Amino acid sequence: MVSLRVNGATHEVDVDPATPLLYVLRNDLRLSGPRFGCGLGQCGTCTVIIDGVAARSCIVNVGRASGEITTLEGLSKDGALDPLQQAWIDEQAVQCGYCQNGQIMTARALLNKNPNPTDAEIRQGMEGVLCRCMTYYRVQAAIKRAAGRPVTPSRGA
Ligand code: FES
Ligand code: FES
Repeated sequence: MVSLRVNGATHEVDVDPATPLLYVLRNDLRLSGPRFGCGLGQCGTCTVIIDGVAARSCIVNVGRASGEITTLEGLSKDGALDPLQQAWIDEQAVQCGYCQNGQIMTARALLNKNPNPTDAEIRQGMEGVLCRCMTYYRVQAAIKRAAGRPVTPSRGA
């Protein structure tokens, strides 16, 4: 049995502690925000935030995920979107959508640490979150749009 904190709630899950966190989030907790892409920590689409830091959940064993985990589902509060989610809509950042969990969660961790990043800091912070549809410029514009807007501390901070 593994105990983990996800989006403000505690869950007890009967799984092998060596199971990837991504599998537990999707298969046991039915949280479909984090996606399976490469399964090797290379693409970023499975990203969640653990204790304020972006983490690739496909390579984190659930038994070691002892911190406060935030998934995409945990960003909106009481029906109010995270500023990044609204900016994503305003900028129409998405194409096929497959990578976008990783884009938004990595951006949230970036803005929590650096609320007003420069273009260079955004590029550096988002490096390695791959998008085969090449949405990088619109993702960058959405992050700029959301930068500096207040969020509640529970959003992955
Ligand atoms: S699925 Fe985790 S980094 Fe690609
Ligand atoms: S929007 Fe299609 S992979 Fe990024």
